[in-house]
Amino acid sequence: MRLESLLFLAATCIAASTDGFNAEDIVTRDVCILGGGATGTYAAIQLREKGHSVALGYFNNDITKNFFSQLNVDYEALLPGSIIIENVNFNTGKRVLPGNELLGTIAGATLYRAAIEQFNYLSTGAYYLPDKVPEALLRPFHEFVEEHALQGAMDVIFMFAENVGDILNAPLLYVIQNFGITHIDALLGGGYIRPKNGTGQLFNKAANYVAKENIFYETTVSQAKRNSTGVEMIVKNADGTRKLIKAKKLLITFPPTASSLSGFDLRSEESTLFSKWNHKSYYAAAITNTGLPDGINVANTNPENQPGSLPLPPFQWQMEYSGVPGYFMSKIVADSNFTAEDAKELIRSDLKRMGKTGVYPTKEPEIAAFASHSPETLIVSTDDVRNGFYKKLYALQGQQSTFYSGYAFCTDYSTPLWNYTSSVLDMMDL
Ligand SMILES: *[C@@H]1O[C@H](CO)[C@@H](O)[C@H](O)[C@H]1NC(C)=O
Ligand SMILES: *[C@@H]1O[C@H](CO)[C@@H](O)[C@H](O)[C@H]1NC(C)=O
Ligand SMILES: *[C@@H]1O[C@H](CO)[C@@H](O)[C@H](O)[C@H]1NC(C)=O
Ligand SMILES: *[C@@H]1O[C@H](CO)[C@@H](O)[C@H](O)[C@H]1NC(C)=O
Repeated sequence: MRLESLLFLAATCIAASTDGFNAEDIVTRDVCILGGGATGTYAAIQLREKGHSVALGYFNNDITKNFFSQLNVDYEALLPGSIIIENVNFNTGKRVLPGNELLGTIAGATLYRAAIEQFNYLSTGAYYLPDKVPEALLRPFHEFVEEHALQGAMDVIFMFAENVGDILNAPLLYVIQNFGITHIDALLGGGYIRPKNGTGQLFNKAANYVAKENIFYETTVSQAKRNSTGVEMIVKNADGTRKLIKAKKLLITFPPTASSLSGFDLRSEESTLFSKWNHKSYYAAAITNTGLPDGINVANTNPENQPGSLPLPPFQWQMEYSGVPGYFMSKIVADSNFTAEDAKELIRSDLKRMGKTGVYPTKEPEIAAFASHSPETLIVSTDDVRNGFYKKLYALQGQQSTFYSGYAFCTDYSTPLWNYTSSVLDMMDL
């Protein structure tokens, strides 16, 4: 099959009504991909390569390197900078000591890896659980930490799994899914690489590769009807025009939730599963006029939360020096009801407390850039996991000509997501 038979929609979905379409407004393709992120892009590239009609680091392994080579994107090693970390309790604005007896990154990750090796069926990053899910995976992480004496590894675990929020009370499963064997092996193995000209270049080259007539940006799906032979969708483009899309297969790469799929002909099984997600709010901000000196990372350190002195949601994790004088990057993790405005207020109030205690000079911080990555960290209840949620979720692959990838199905790191996406494309049997 040819490139022409692929369609890639960087789309969100809303509800609307249906009308007749002229022939020129009907687009027929083999595969339609919904979702514009790294996973959707990867899928589009791989499908094209097969002839059928994605300021991060990427794991330095063959999956990543092959993908970059395919797109002719030059890459370089991402080296940890020599950054000074200052520990401050953001709740009080006071300087505190780092967590107790923390091991270094390598020693901590090695210790933790040995403890989770027993769950090696999770090693690809997908939720491939045994039918009888071990209770240990559903117990709060602090029990596992005590049992395996992982106190010294809390720093490195949190570095990856901070998006889980209160990791000590989260089920072990969700800590492993955010920092598991795949992440550790990348960390201890080749480390990370990044496109020399930035992640933007990766996406630009990807867009050229797929060919722009096959990409509809800012498209909304107003209606989708699916059956075993194909899908029909009414989409609305940014310019207001509407198209009827007909495809043999549909790949959804954003998290399938009741609201993201409004307008879809969801069956009760799908609606039931997709209504079970809980998520975290996750925001990233670039801040300036902070009062912080250049070249430091200020780590949010809470001595009251042991082991590890980790912050509790809602929290700013770290204010990291960006490399650009005066600018710091911040990530905010909170429960799902925490709004963007709440997050901006948290940044300002945290800095204000540090100003009041005199740790850093008081300034009027400015939020230069702000982005929401919500919904982040999709989790379901331990009862749902016990009752086979993930088995039922993966069983949806292929039903109604619909396939899924993205971080609802696999850990939220590009490289393992790409690998999972490859396996989904194989399932399509095109
Ligand atoms: C990639 O996915 C396949 C299954 O499709 C798995 O066998 C393999 O181990 C995965 N590779 C990595 C590096 O996780
Ligand atoms: C990176 O970008 C610069 C400026 O846009 C360009 O001249 C250069 O060729 C690019 N390098 C690579 C490796 O693509
Ligand atoms: C699927 O839907 C299409 C369009 O509505 C229809 O033409 C086709 O017959 C249906 N296939 C099955 C197996 O129901
Ligand atoms: C979010 O909900 C929790 C209870 O579930 C409540 O304690 C908290 O105050 C709420 N936060 C916001 C920002 O509304």
